[in-house]
Amino acid sequence: MNKLESGAAASTVITMAMMLSLFTFLLLSVSRGSPDASPASTVCIIGSGIGGSSVAHFLRKYSPNSTSSIKIRIFERNGIVGGRMATVNVGGETFEAGASILHPKNFHALNYTNLLKLKVKKPSSDSLSLGIWDGKKLIFKTVNSSSRIPFIQFFIDKVVSFANSVIMFARYGFSLLRMQSFVETTVNRFVRYYEKFEARPVFRTVDEMLKWAGLYNLTTRTLGEELIDAGLSPLLIQELVTVITRINYGQSVSMSALAGAVSLAGSGGGLWSVEGGNWQMAAGLINHSNVKLHLHEEIESVSNLGDYYELNSTTGNTYTCEVVVVATPLDELNIQFTPPLSIPERKLQHTHATFVRGLLNPAYFGLHAASKIPELVATIEDPDLPFTSISALKQHNKKDVTYKIFSRTPLDDKLLDSIFSARRETIRINWGAYPQYHAPEVFAPFILDGGHLYYVNAFENAASTIETSAVAAENIARLILSRFFSQVPLGLSKLNASGEKYFHVDL
Ligand SMILES: Cc1cc2nc3c(=O)[nH]c(=O)nc-3n(C[C@H](O)[C@H](O)[C@H](O)COP(=O)(O)OP(=O)(O)OC[C@H]3O[C@@H](n4cnc5c(N)ncnc54)[C@H](O)[C@@H]3O)c2cc1C
Ligand SMILES: *[C@@H]1O[C@H](CO)[C@@H](O)[C@H](O)[C@H]1NC(C)=O
Ligand SMILES: *[C@@H]1O[C@H](CO)[C@@H](O)[C@H](O)[C@H]1NC(C)=O
Ligand SMILES: *[C@@H]1O[C@H](CO)[C@@H](O)[C@H](O)[C@H]1NC(C)=O
Ligand SMILES: *[C@@H]1O[C@H](CO)[C@@H](O)[C@H](O)[C@H]1NC(C)=O
Ligand SMILES: *[C@@H]1O[C@H](CO)[C@@H](O)[C@H](O)[C@H]1NC(C)=O
Ligand SMILES: *[C@@H]1O[C@H](CO)[C@@H](O)[C@H](O)[C@H]1NC(C)=O
Ligand SMILES: *[C@@H]1O[C@H](CO)[C@@H](O)[C@H](O)[C@H]1NC(C)=O
Repeated sequence: MNKLESGAAASTVITMAMMLSLFTFLLLSVSRGSPDASPASTVCIIGSGIGGSSVAHFLRKYSPNSTSSIKIRIFERNGIVGGRMATVNVGGETFEAGASILHPKNFHALNYTNLLKLKVKKPSSDSLSLGIWDGKKLIFKTVNSSSRIPFIQFFIDKVVSFANSVIMFARYGFSLLRMQSFVETTVNRFVRYYEKFEARPVFRTVDEMLKWAGLYNLTTRTLGEELIDAGLSPLLIQELVTVITRINYGQSVSMSALAGAVSLAGSGGGLWSVEGGNWQMAAGLINHSNVKLHLHEEIESVSNLGDYYELNSTTGNTYTCEVVVVATPLDELNIQFTPPLSIPERKLQHTHATFVRGLLNPAYFGLHAASKIPELVATIEDPDLPFTSISALKQHNKKDVTYKIFSRTPLDDKLLDSIFSARRETIRINWGAYPQYHAPEVFAPFILDGGHLYYVNAFENAASTIETSAVAAENIARLILSRFFSQVPLGLSKLNASGEKYFHVDL
């Protein structure tokens, strides 16, 4: 029932301009693709999000001389690439509907942006007013400009300046510094995934990959437990930390600690996004990787026929692929695998993103004027609260603002009419957003069947972000090159000579 929900929702947000550029894109891809008669090995990638597009990119990048002998197909059930990176059009303006914010140490995303000549966009305002709502009152509020706090969206920015901010320090004290130190340690471990090939093995499992960087233990305990051990005060955990995990993952501090730490990450400032939409990273990578892109084509079965896989799509086509990469969460899909796969059960957290152009109702928040409502209204953990956060994305004028609301369940009109005094436009998107994080995490394998069927999103139990998808995809590309292409005659002897050290792996 949920199968097409997020897909269908995402496709309703396509703008005319995007359709046009994709149309050109499709034509280009078709005319540039190598002829179907080529005897080359084919890598088939299911999903055109940042994971699938990154696998294609790194396959090309790491085997530049075999470009003509590896054929890459990407299948995308929607009419647009990017998956959970998508924009929404509200009142003629474009906003990120899914993944919105990147961190300054998201080095793959930064490199993509440079390579593709995309423009970096900084958040429109570096700081914003925050209020923490408990359902009855704002238990914490920074409204005026002298007490504004740095921008929180996906990652919390500038934890240091939080600590420096008198109002925050008064409430949370030195715990803020302990939180920062916890986050910094985690980020410093994560950046090991950018080390040179010589220093960084190819990982066959998520467990191995996380253990190597010293991150595995964080997946075995809850964020709450880790932060108590790190000496954070219960007040900071219940309020600010909870606010952030709820905004980023729709979950409480009982989520596993690695994903929790990722959501707290960031200390140097410099949050960014791609001007015009983060989805353009996926579009550009696909465009630059000599990929045959199949839009509106949903894969419904993957059969292992010994020497190759046979993929059938809902459009009635059959494809033969030597290597198959699943670059989408399998949890809500019913792709039929033969032989059947057995992977650990995982539920996705659904996040409902509701966009409203209008004006919040101050009375709902017990205030006299809409101008007194903080730009970000966040919430503590309470199952009775109908929403997780409300943020003002853009103020058109004093009575006309575009807001983004996150909630765990859909928001009906009656509720919206009590929260808003005016509502000119409402757009609802239901995302199968990210895994529900439970410690200890149990990871699906990267190699699903011991053959050449790979799963990028096994890594999502560690954390779900644009960058973690890219990091997992890079490892999958190396796994494919080491396990498949070093064994078959693809004219790769040159690659092998220099590639052996890059792609060494214990087979
Ligand atoms: C509301 C929200 C906010 C977020 N905020 C941030 C943020 O600020 N920063 C950040 O870094 N991350 C954020 N994330 C997480 C981030 O979006 C994801 O981790 C990342 O985009 C996942 O990319 P992916 O390529 O692995 O999967 P996806 O982007 O989901 O791509 C999978 C693709 O596969 C396609 N597909 C599925 N099944 C089939 C099939 N059978 N055949 C063909 N195609 C198929 C889907 O249509 C989809 O396009 C957010 C996510 C959500 C939902
Ligand atoms: C702004 O907030 C600061 C600190 O909370 C306070 O001292 C100051 O009076 C406020 N200014 C206005 C104009 O409300
Ligand atoms: C990003 O690009 C630069 C310049 O090409 C390169 O030196 C660096 O290793 C790249 N970073 C990653 C994470 O690939
Ligand atoms: C992870 O936990 C194990 C067992 O408790 C411990 O031996 C190891 O040192 C820990 N690793 C890290 C990086 O903290
Ligand atoms: C694809 O690449 C070509 C040239 O490299 C460029 O002109 C075009 O705008 C790109 N399209 C997309 C959708 O990125
Ligand atoms: C896929 O399609 C082929 C050709 O139509 C068919 O023979 C095969 O049985 C199909 N496989 C599955 C699993 O449906
Ligand atoms: C690749 O290198 C390995 C070890 O260096 C060697 O055993 C193997 O035969 C080489 N493969 C090819 C295709 O040259
Ligand atoms: C790939 O080809 C280029 C030019 O054709 C050559 O300079 C380079 O050395 C080759 N790389 C490998 C790994 O063989």
